[in-house]
Amino acid sequence: MDPAQRTVYLDHAATTPMVPAAVEAMTEHLFEVGNPSSLHASGRYARRVVEESRETIAQALGCRPGEVVFTSGGTESDNLAIKGIHWSRAAELGPRPRLITSSVEHHAVLDPVSWLEAGGQAEVRLVGVDSSCRVDLDQLRELVAERPVSLISVMWANNEVGTIQPIDEIVAIAAPHGIPVHTDAVQAVGAVPVDFATSGVDALTLTGHKLGGPFGVGALIVRREVGVTPLVHGGGQERDIRSGTIDTPAIAGFAAAVELAVKEQAAYAARVGALRDDLVRRVIEAVPDAHLHGGALDPLGEFRLPGNAHLGFPGCEGDSLLMLLDANGIECSTGSACSAGVPQPSHVLLAMGCDPDQARHSLRFSLGHTSTAADVDAVVEAIVPAVERARAAKAPR
Ligand SMILES: Cc1ncc(COP(=O)(O)O)c(C=O)c1O
Repeated sequence: MDPAQRTVYLDHAATTPMVPAAVEAMTEHLFEVGNPSSLHASGRYARRVVEESRETIAQALGCRPGEVVFTSGGTESDNLAIKGIHWSRAAELGPRPRLITSSVEHHAVLDPVSWLEAGGQAEVRLVGVDSSCRVDLDQLRELVAERPVSLISVMWANNEVGTIQPIDEIVAIAAPHGIPVHTDAVQAVGAVPVDFATSGVDALTLTGHKLGGPFGVGALIVRREVGVTPLVHGGGQERDIRSGTIDTPAIAGFAAAVELAVKEQAAYAARVGALRDDLVRRVIEAVPDAHLHGGALDPLGEFRLPGNAHLGFPGCEGDSLLMLLDANGIECSTGSACSAGVPQPSHVLLAMGCDPDQARHSLRFSLGHTSTAADVDAVVEAIVPAVERARAAKAPR
């Protein structure tokens, strides 16, 4: 059975279904042969598909085609930006320059940053956030003034609580010091307006499977003037920054998805944002002590991704609630990661000032392009019995 038919899928921030345009663009090329690096006609045809896809993405995201470096997805693009730019800058700045990121990044940023620190290659500073998850710009100003900085990496929008960061202000702080800025825009592209050139950032990460494209393909958009030391060496593909035979069908599907997501962004944000507002309002009506995280600052407005509803349910363990809803066919997520079978509170919620208990009683519903009013109705119907059972399971006996 098609899982999408029997489930209420509200985990679009984890991955979202492919759009038909992307499936068509990808499958069209699956039976074709031709390595885009080959000189014969089949190779030249594959190269044309890749270069047209690059142009499509550049057009949609306001960059030059030569700035698009195809990768295997968000994790690789983040690693390439962090390590590649840091290494290149360290060659100019001297040993162990400062590397700044925020405390609420995805692990695809936090882990390469800590790896550089553990190896003695970087002095890492994490900028804190307020209770809405917005980065502390005063702290960032102090950190850039103290000593040479290789790179600032702050995500465009947070994957857990959906908060949109003030990227333009971060760029304004970095620019006078000549510090490159990277942003992980994995959750932002297609959900909010994203334009590379006008944003002023030097490097931007995106991935196919979060915006209606295939898994295993993404891009790092990076200004040509910014030095990037490659992580993968080989055939010299992608400006010698990212070697490896290029996946023509996946790139064609990715480009079709980016084009559509950007074209439909405004309509998507209006429709999905209204569904999300309805979900939050009705869940809080049904469970009056439930609350929206990141709510101190215009909770449902311009600083939050349209599809994100991150709710706290006091007295519940988020993971029990998740399993109870799953048993009713409703799929969502918690921000907690499991370590040795024990759920660990989300680093994002802790950084926002929640205590570990508050951080563990949370659920993320993330809506997307296939979400409907019936999905919201299903959550509203299931939430009260699920919360009652989760509370009973947690209450001391
Ligand atoms: C903000 C953010 N960055 C990076 C990633 C990793 O992307 P990928 O799954 O394409 O490796 C994710 C995926 O969850 C994400 O949400």
